[in-house]
Amino acid sequence: MDKEKLIRKFDHQSPIYEARRKRQTEREWRKTLIGCAKGNVLEVAVGAGANFCFYPKDVEVTAVDFSGAMLSKAKESAAASHVRATFMESDIESISFPDNAFDTIVSTLSFCGYENPVRMLEAFSRWCKPDGQILLMEHGLSSNRLIGGAQKLVDPIFRRAVGCHLDRNMIAIFQQSPIQIRRMERYMLSTIHLVWASPIKNGR
Ligand SMILES: C[S@@+](CC[C@H](N)C(=O)[O-])C[C@H]1O[C@@H](n2cnc3c(N)ncnc32)[C@H](O)[C@@H]1O
Repeated sequence: MDKEKLIRKFDHQSPIYEARRKRQTEREWRKTLIGCAKGNVLEVAVGAGANFCFYPKDVEVTAVDFSGAMLSKAKESAAASHVRATFMESDIESISFPDNAFDTIVSTLSFCGYENPVRMLEAFSRWCKPDGQILLMEHGLSSNRLIGGAQKLVDPIFRRAVGCHLDRNMIAIFQQSPIQIRRMERYMLSTIHLVWASPIKNGR
């Protein structure tokens, strides 16, 4: 699917993500994960800003999303939560940041959309400081064969309708990527992965 079409798809879904933010779906997972953020934070694919109310008060967030409609809702969310944030309307797969720029990199529910998720994690490792952290909450393929089979079956329809893949093998993606997992929790028949990771730098 071409990027312009995908952006329009997410623009149209922005009221749904705003409603989900207000209902605080995934509240406990987000609270546990985002509460660990520190310092200079990059949040990729910020959506309608569902994580802002869980950030510690002293962080400074750079938030990126390629959907302008999502970003305007994320701005309201950051203001309501009094989080210092700057916003960039960009394709995170096409932009770059200096190496070692961030103390924390956050991604929640974004790896289902990327063309090349391993390349994205390679970029996270470069942009993250050596002693920094990568915090992820991602959905993907269940380890349960029956559920996994159903996810694979439905994936092409889901991708066309919503813009996300349902059957990303997140464990394989983590294993192929230069990150060291410090802690992982899995929920809902292992379809949800909460990950606390460190970057693996070249030569380390
Ligand atoms: C499933 S939503 C998740 C939003 C938010 N992170 C959350 O946890 O609710 C995916 C978001 O990723 C954004 N997105 C997907 N691919 C992107 C890309 N390549 N660059 C920037 N944003 C992207 C979409 O616009 C959308 O806001």
